[in-house]
Formats: sequence, structure tokens, C-alpha cells
Amino acid sequence: MDRIAIVGGARLNGEIQISGAKNSAIKLMVASLLTDEPLRLTNMPRLADTRFLGHLLTRLGTLVDERQGETGSETVLHTPEIVSSFAPYDLVRQMRASFNVLGPLIARTGHAKVSLPGGCAIGGRPVDLHLQALEALGAKIELHEGYVYATAPGGLKGAEIEFPFVSVGATEHAMLAAVLAKGVTVLKTAACEPEIVDLAECLNKMGAKVEGAGTPTITITGVDKLHGTTHAVITDRIEAGTYAVAAAMAGGEVRLTNTRADLIEALLQKIEEAGAGVERTNDGVIIRRNGARLKAVDVETGVYPGFPTDLQAQFMALMTLADGESVIRETIFENRFMHAPELARLGADITVSGTEARVRGVEKLEGAQVMATDLRASVGLVIAGLVASGETVVGRVYHLDRGFERLEEKLGACGADVRRIKGDASIPEMDG
Ligand code: UD1
Repeated sequence: MDRIAIVGGARLNGEIQISGAKNSAIKLMVASLLTDEPLRLTNMPRLADTRFLGHLLTRLGTLVDERQGETGSETVLHTPEIVSSFAPYDLVRQMRASFNVLGPLIARTGHAKVSLPGGCAIGGRPVDLHLQALEALGAKIELHEGYVYATAPGGLKGAEIEFPFVSVGATEHAMLAAVLAKGVTVLKTAACEPEIVDLAECLNKMGAKVEGAGTPTITITGVDKLHGTTHAVITDRIEAGTYAVAAAMAGGEVRLTNTRADLIEALLQKIEEAGAGVERTNDGVIIRRNGARLKAVDVETGVYPGFPTDLQAQFMALMTLADGESVIRETIFENRFMHAPELARLGADITVSGTEARVRGVEKLEGAQVMATDLRASVGLVIAGLVASGETVVGRVYHLDRGFERLEEKLGACGADVRRIKGDASIPEMDG
């Protein structure tokens, strides 16, 4: 297993180009199952998760061509026919978002057998809302031996679906199924995340009729057939936010490009409140900090446009050195403070109680060996390592590789001392 070693102390100066969003790319890849024509996705991040999903889609009948296009990495996905409607446990368990093939498989073939994903490090993460939405659309669902057996011999039918609370995955899954259903589907209490808007835009370019994405009510008028198109994956707001926090932590001046400040406004306001400089630009944002200690600020995660749960670990790392006490509340996932004890190994002073963490800023952090527990937590540890004295070694880097493209290279180009220590190639269980 690879590890990442960081020698703290360097300021960050330079430019970081933000990649396409992992969380969008994987749903867009799944959308390719809905048509027998090629779907070309540009601005594609090259990540363990996208590679992994590529393997699953290949088994289902998709020809996956990863290539370098004129504007950067792109992937062309072409599914002339679905050769299998079966997604086995080993593949779904390793990446939860694989579960989202269920809806498109039912929509295109009328049946599917897909493994339930199981839990993961940050909580139980059930898929009940996904299944309820598919049932409302007319799928018959049975659960046996850890598998979802779904059929819809007469095809899916439009329905009104009101989610009891916001779920990004269930909203996307319902959209992916409803675009080929007969009649009109209305999704209420839908997620408003930018990745939902991106998915809707791509589906509409494929011939779907999706209206209202980005608001809590999405209306989908089913069509008989979708066609191929070209679509650029939306910028990765979580990657952008991560490097914004890294710059605020290490000090210096970092320009983030190929991204959008408006997508991380909740974070930028907190960074400004804490005392770092933020300049919103046409193609991203510049973060500046010159020496002065940051102030502790409180944060509560929420659905978009609230503070993203996927930036909570990074912000907690930032607060470990701030002046005063910061209260961080996690409202989306039940068990998402596993990075707190790892940050404590670096000298942070954090008390966790239920969904709340109190971070009392300390004067300095000291490098140590720490372990990544999930994707976003791992990058929080790297951020802390940027300022810890001496060397911090982050283990279980496969978590990081799932969601951050060329992290060492991007931080290294800004002056950070970050290197990868190669380990054996076995790929352990993933989550998230
Ligand atoms: C997606 C993102 C993840 C992000 C999260 C919240 C992807 C691949 N992942 O995850 O990075 O942290 O949104 O912004 O896009 N829930 C249920 N039943 C369900 C579905 C969800 O109880 O059927 C619960 C979850 O356990 C969680 C909450 O709802 O507590 C929100 O989860 P959801 O928005 O669905 O997150 P994901 O789509 O899994």
C-alpha cells in the first residue's frame, strides 16, 4: 500500500488547475448505459473510482475508451447493447456509486440484479430512498441474499416522488431511471447540488427532458430513446475547496483555475471569516495568507448551498492551528469524525461528542504517522501535514487516490514537500 510523506513548513505559491468532479463523472459514466450511441465525456478526472466504474461498465457491455483529447483527458463510453444486467457484490461493495447502474439497467432492459452496497466508514449509508424511488416508477423490487432483483417488464412509468429528506445519490438515481419512463415524473425535496445540474444538462443533451435541476423540484418528461453527445464534466468543487483550505493552512498565494468560486461560496466565506484573503476570479479563486494566525470559526455541514460535508475534515485540519475554539457540526453523515483522533496524533486538541467536534487551536502540530480512514479524511491529514514540523506519513493512501488526481504533483508544483512512498499493489476494500 502506498503512503504519502509530507515535510511541513513550506508556503504554497503558484497555480493549481482543478480537475473535473469525481462525483459528477461517475454518474455521467453511468448515464452512458441509457443509450446505444457513444457518450463522450471531456474534462474527465483520472481516478481510481472512474477506472473502477469503467471495469464494471465494461462487464455490462460498455466499450470504455479513455484517451487524451484536444482539451485534456476524455472518456468515450459506448454501450451498443447491455450484455449483462448483473452487478456483483465484489464490484458494488468497493464503490457505492456503482449501485446507480440499477436504475439505468431496469430502464433499458426491464430487469437487473445488483448487489446492495453495504455500509462504509462514514456511516450505514442505506439505499432505501433509491429503492423507494425505483418502486414508485413501477419497478418490482425483491431483496435476496444481499442482492436487489428488479423487474419492470412493461417499462417504467412516471410518478410523483417526494423524498423524506435530501439525498444526492437517490435524486440522481431517480433521474437516471425516469428519463426513459413513460410519462411525467416529479421529484420533490430533490438535492440541489451542482452535480445534479451537471447530470441534468448532460441528459438533456442526450435528448432527455429534465427541468428544474438545481431546485428542490425536478420535472422529468420521459422519452423513448436517448442519443449520444459530448459533455464536459463540471469542475470538482471539493478538490477546489480542498486546495483553498490547503493554501489558507500553509500560507502563501495560490490561484485555483478551471473552477468556479460560486460553487464553494459557503467555504470561501468561512475562510474569509477566519482571516485569509479570498479573491474570486473569472476562472476560479485566489487564496492568500501572510503569516497572521487564523481565527477559530464555527462550521455546520449542510446540503448545497450549505457547507459541504466533503470539506469538513479539511476545515477541521485548518482549525487545529486557529486562535480559539471552533465548533464543527456534521449533519449529513453519522460517523464522519474519524479523522479527529488521527489529527490528535499530530498534536491537535479535539473533543468529539456525537455530531459535534470542538477544536481548540494549538500553537503547533508535529509530524507523525497517521492513517487515512476515508477519502476526504485522508486529504485533511495531508493538509495538517503541510504545516506540522518534521515529517507526516499518511497511510492507506488508496482512499486519497479514489478522489484526488495527481495530488502530490499539484501541491508539489506550489512548493509543498510531498512525496509518495510506493508500497505493494494490493488494492484493499474501498468505501464512500
Ligand atoms: C454523495 C457524494 C458524497 C457526499 C454526499 C453528500 C457521490 C458519489 N458521493 O453521497 O461525496 O458526501 O453526496 O453531499 O456523489 N441516505 C439514506 N437513504 C438513502 C440514501 C441516503 O438514509 O437511500 C442518507 C445517507 O446515509 C446520508 C444522507 O442520506 O446520511 C445523505 O446521503 P446522500 O446525499 O445520498 O449521499 P451520497 O449520494 O451517498
